[in-house]
Amino acid sequence: MVTVKVCVGTYCYLQGGQQLAQWRNYVPKHLQDKVTFLGSACLGCQEDTAKPPYVKVGEVLIERATSEKVVEEIEKQLEGNLEL
Ligand code: FES
Repeated sequence: MVTVKVCVGTYCYLQGGQQLAQWRNYVPKHLQDKVTFLGSACLGCQEDTAKPPYVKVGEVLIERATSEKVVEEIEKQLEGNLEL
């Protein structure tokens, strides 16, 4: 199981974080029951160097998150879990 936290802080929300519901649909169907999507308060961006939107997949923080980056990290972490 992988937890995905999508920042819904104002900065990220305005920069694409509001698409949380759509991002869920980009996860391949065979993986959807292995992923939990949550909204999150600010994940720690710094105003002068921020690269929103931010998404955290497990313990990995992704900046300028896109559905492709998020799904890639989900698949990587789930594959890692299968090797245990
Ligand atoms: S507002 Fe999203 S990480 Fe700070």
